[in-house]
Amino acid sequence: MGRTAAEWSAPPKFPATHYVDSRLYTDEAIFKEEKEKLFRPSWIIACHESELPEAFDYRLFTHPAGVPLIMVRGDDARVRAFYNICPHRGNTILHDPSGNAKRMTCIFHQWSFDTRGNCVEISRAEQGYQERFRKEDASMREVKCELAYGGFVWVNLADDCAPLREFIGGAMDILDPYMQEPMELFHYHRAHVRTNFKLWHDTNSEFYHDFLHYFNRITGMLQPGYFDRRYTGFPNGHATVGSMQIQYDKYEGSKERAVGWPGLAPGGWYMVDLFPGMTYNLRTSVMRIDTSIPLSPNEVLIEFRGLGLKRDTAEERAQRVFDHNTIWGPFGRNLHEDLLAVTGQGRAMREGTDSRWVIQGREENSTIHDEVGMRHYYAEWSRRMGRPAYAPY
Ligand code: FES
Ligand SMILES: [Fe+2]
Repeated sequence: MGRTAAEWSAPPKFPATHYVDSRLYTDEAIFKEEKEKLFRPSWIIACHESELPEAFDYRLFTHPAGVPLIMVRGDDARVRAFYNICPHRGNTILHDPSGNAKRMTCIFHQWSFDTRGNCVEISRAEQGYQERFRKEDASMREVKCELAYGGFVWVNLADDCAPLREFIGGAMDILDPYMQEPMELFHYHRAHVRTNFKLWHDTNSEFYHDFLHYFNRITGMLQPGYFDRRYTGFPNGHATVGSMQIQYDKYEGSKERAVGWPGLAPGGWYMVDLFPGMTYNLRTSVMRIDTSIPLSPNEVLIEFRGLGLKRDTAEERAQRVFDHNTIWGPFGRNLHEDLLAVTGQGRAMREGTDSRWVIQGREENSTIHDEVGMRHYYAEWSRRMGRPAYAPY
């Protein structure tokens, strides 16, 4: 027999830490607050350094808190980040998503900036501003920017933020040994999904949904050791999942991965979930990075990057691309299934659908089908938002 309206609305029979209110995924006010309290003060991955290989290369990035940014490599090879907002009258400075710009010139009145953020030209400055306003008063707004953890470009909008190393803590320790060599980006695509950004991070924080993936069911779940993988929670909402060996040869039509990763056992796999919405995923021969840019309570842009080693031969790179695309490419065996799952959640959990609770109640000694990874995330959510995720009003 199904449940009545009252029964449906009643909190699940778990400790309150083991479920969240569904309105976390639909409420406009909560979403706005999340941008300010979760994203604005956090260190966020904007891109990889290999996307800016030469001096004056730049790339645009919309920060999850909403701020348009330019990441640009200077004449001194240093990567810096600036607002893509003209200090004159607020126009967009650069329009093309990426390129090479010795001077960044705003099209509106031709104010011009160098790659260190200095204003180098104000058109007809003396006539209009006399001695009252000079180039030195018109620098771009610079944002904290660090290259770290595999050569990624991290940004933080808060001038008084804690250092990146402090934000990450020990969460990247399991991956550090495998990121000693320079990496290079070979794949980028993004998915525009009608779902809440947290639901994507949730799929990266639990493996119970391996039931969704045919490929994972037969390469992973049946193998000895699968249920030994453990979640480890770290301060600031980060979590890691330990390694297992994937036996790709168990999948008909597949084969052992020929190209490995320095130091990683054949078929090895490590995952690090970083609050509030980034994931490192090193699997056998490829590093995959997910980053989320939330657009509305029910809309997110998820960026997917695939990386190999900078020193790859053409053959090695081709193999990595193949390994990546067959699993994680837009038409691979795995990724679209995850996207399908969160799209379904996004459809069922919209304003007015009367979805009430999301249960995160599995306890299996923090092993692979335990939902402790999500509980750890929402504990940090509650800390940052100043109220529990099970009672956000
Ligand atoms: S708004 Fe950029 S130069 Fe005027
Ligand atoms: Fe998945």
